[in-house]
Amino acid sequence: MAVLDILTYPHPILRNHSRPIGQVDERIRKLLDDMAETMYAAPGIGLAAPQVGLNLRVVVVDVEWNNDGKTAAQRDTLYKLIDPEILERHGKAKGKEGCLSFPGLEASVERAERILVRTLNLEGHPIEFSCDGLLAVAIQHELDHLDGVLLIDNASPLKRRQYKHHLRKQGVLET
Ligand code: NI
Repeated sequence: MAVLDILTYPHPILRNHSRPIGQVDERIRKLLDDMAETMYAAPGIGLAAPQVGLNLRVVVVDVEWNNDGKTAAQRDTLYKLIDPEILERHGKAKGKEGCLSFPGLEASVERAERILVRTLNLEGHPIEFSCDGLLAVAIQHELDHLDGVLLIDNASPLKRRQYKHHLRKQGVLET
């Protein structure tokens, strides 16, 4: 397994619409392993393929891990989602979110409280599950990445201005 480089805003790959996988093969399973390793190393609770430079519809999420020395393969709280879709959304929950592609940005975002998700499993078979709380929030955040929707888009106008100002001061943004 390998720890990959994480792209940060305003890298153009983060804005692209990612394409479906369709057929799950060894290459995709390897990518998911590497993405999990990258997420744990960062550390973070979710990571989408565009954040490691690939416009493919795969994400990893683990909202319960801690630094207990387990490897990614030993964790049963790790979700590897392939071509995921949200079939149903229920309720509303507003909470603070961060993103590995936006170091230093924290924004309040309104999400569904409970969701029904369809995804392919590692064998390429479609499965469905429902979830709520932080896991539901993290999955909604990561699925936004697959459509080029970013934390800064969900932030308030004030937060957005402040963060862009911060990036300009660092020379990351020109205008
Ligand atoms: Ni993110």
